[in-house]
Amino acid sequence: MRLDKLIETEWKTSRKQMKRLFLMGKVRVDGKIVYQENKNVDSLIHQIEVNGQRLKTTDTYYLLNKPQGVVTANRDKLTTVFDLLAPEDQRGDLAAVGRLDRDTEGLLLLTSNGQLGYDLLQPKKKVDKVYEAKINAEVTVNDVQAFAQGIIFHGGEQCQPAKLEILTSTPTESTVRLTLREGKFHQVKKMFLVTGKKVIFLKRVAMGPLQLGSLSTGSYRALTQAELLSLKPYFR
Ligand code: URA
Repeated sequence: MRLDKLIETEWKTSRKQMKRLFLMGKVRVDGKIVYQENKNVDSLIHQIEVNGQRLKTTDTYYLLNKPQGVVTANRDKLTTVFDLLAPEDQRGDLAAVGRLDRDTEGLLLLTSNGQLGYDLLQPKKKVDKVYEAKINAEVTVNDVQAFAQGIIFHGGEQCQPAKLEILTSTPTESTVRLTLREGKFHQVKKMFLVTGKKVIFLKRVAMGPLQLGSLSTGSYRALTQAELLSLKPYFR
């Protein structure tokens, strides 16, 4: 949560009073005086103090293993990722960090911390997104090289270099692992289309330091303290 908003709501200050607290050096994060009003904080990983008093935040962070057939949308006539949450875990300000296609499975972070979600998606933050995919053809070292050079979509859009690893390959089917640092619309499918191949199964297995691990399809859980701590560098 933004530090300025936290102070305004917890201390019930006016905007002007809040700004004064910053100017007077009364706001500390992890023991250091901060002047950055829009600093993103979470009391689970930051020690937030105003005038020596601790402040607590209430953001939530869920790691979901999205199943196929479920849409990454707030509202839809189909089942949405938010419909998978138990009633007690629902809250109106939760948003998905990026989107997975309806037929894509895997890791999706849902959080009420909109600033963190936004920052994790910025290409300049270089957050790796790792996918495992099944392809309807033989994936070759030529493809690995083309992905490493940066695929150019039909239409001219240039992708950043991506790491393609071949896990298994036969003339009719391959499994691969692909690591991207950006998130263009239908990116993995479109990258393979450029090479004349089709993605027939797609699953995201990691995003930055977060790993899907053994979380079963359709399940979700709160991020652990260690996972949240691993996201601390992305809190602006
Ligand atoms: N790339 C795709 O093509 N689809 C997804 O859902 C995610 C990445």
